[in-house]
Amino acid sequence: MRIGMLTGGGDCPGLNAVIRAAVRKGILHHGDEFVGFMEGWRGVLDDVTMPLTLETTSGILHRGGTILRSSRTNVKKIPGGFDKCVEVLGKHKLDALIALGGDDTQSISLALSEKGVKCVGVPKTIDNDLNGTDACFGFDTAVGIATEAVDRLHSTAEAHNRVMVCEVMGRDAGWIAITAGIAGGADVILVPEVPIDIDEVCRLVKYRREHGKKFSIVVAAEGAQFPETGQATHGTAVDSFGHARLSGIGQALAEEIEKRTGYETRSVNLGHTQRGGTPSAYDRMLATRYGVAAIDLVHAGKFGRLVVLKGTAITDIPLADAIAKTRTVGEDLLAVMKGLQPLASS
Ligand code: F6P
Repeated sequence: MRIGMLTGGGDCPGLNAVIRAAVRKGILHHGDEFVGFMEGWRGVLDDVTMPLTLETTSGILHRGGTILRSSRTNVKKIPGGFDKCVEVLGKHKLDALIALGGDDTQSISLALSEKGVKCVGVPKTIDNDLNGTDACFGFDTAVGIATEAVDRLHSTAEAHNRVMVCEVMGRDAGWIAITAGIAGGADVILVPEVPIDIDEVCRLVKYRREHGKKFSIVVAAEGAQFPETGQATHGTAVDSFGHARLSGIGQALAEEIEKRTGYETRSVNLGHTQRGGTPSAYDRMLATRYGVAAIDLVHAGKFGRLVVLKGTAITDIPLADAIAKTRTVGEDLLAVMKGLQPLASS
């Protein structure tokens, strides 16, 4: 078979591991040929490709980023974009297209599927919020980076008797914040799922000080919001998919905490460091399983579907299910976080 592959949206560690696994399984077991489209959907629209062979995908398992590069090019925004994609994919005589990406990328795959393109999706988002899968590769690596940062912030916060606010990625869901926050022993964790209660934040840092701990660590997802406006109070730009470019909630929180408590407060935004560098062993493993599963789907003739992790098993779901809603942090984890914090009455 001739199989196209692309990586769309924000990168994350493990993309290369998926590409390598799919190419190896396809070539070594089925004699497949691969065409790599550069920079996500842009490479399809502009017909910019690279060969994906055993040689070009060798030595990339441990490398962050993506040898195919990525972009947030939105086919929906380009007049005649879908027709152009169908034309280019047809020109390459592809039997299937494997798109690695989050909800934006998969929404394009779904639309192309409805136009007869044989698409298979691989779930990718550092935010870990794609519906229908228990995990996206890259998330574990990001949590490791964020947890190490939270660990490191403890000693500098303690040395200066400061409150340190650490902003992490998570536009619509607070998976990185809650996981790294709990793993790193943060005193306050703020996620998009729950409006910020600034009085409660200040109560928690004050409680610590009154009980002998003169420093506190606050972890905030970039998408966490103050309730007054009901919308992001930070960041104004939007990307080609219409998503707000958030950044600055950490700084806004730090200013508010310092103003209300009088405690010296600093903020740090981990930003894209969470998406860079080598993937963890867990992410290499998950990515490799997804790559192999994507080829299995193609050869089973199951198109318009996304490979996913359910419990410990790899399976697949319709692309439409993946983009139906955002997978947000559940009450169980929020209860764990609350369970570690002093009650208001204490
Ligand atoms: O969608 C994943 C994500 O990392 C979000 O957490 C963040 O808001 C956004 O991408 C950043 O996108 P970009 O790399 O395009 O600035």
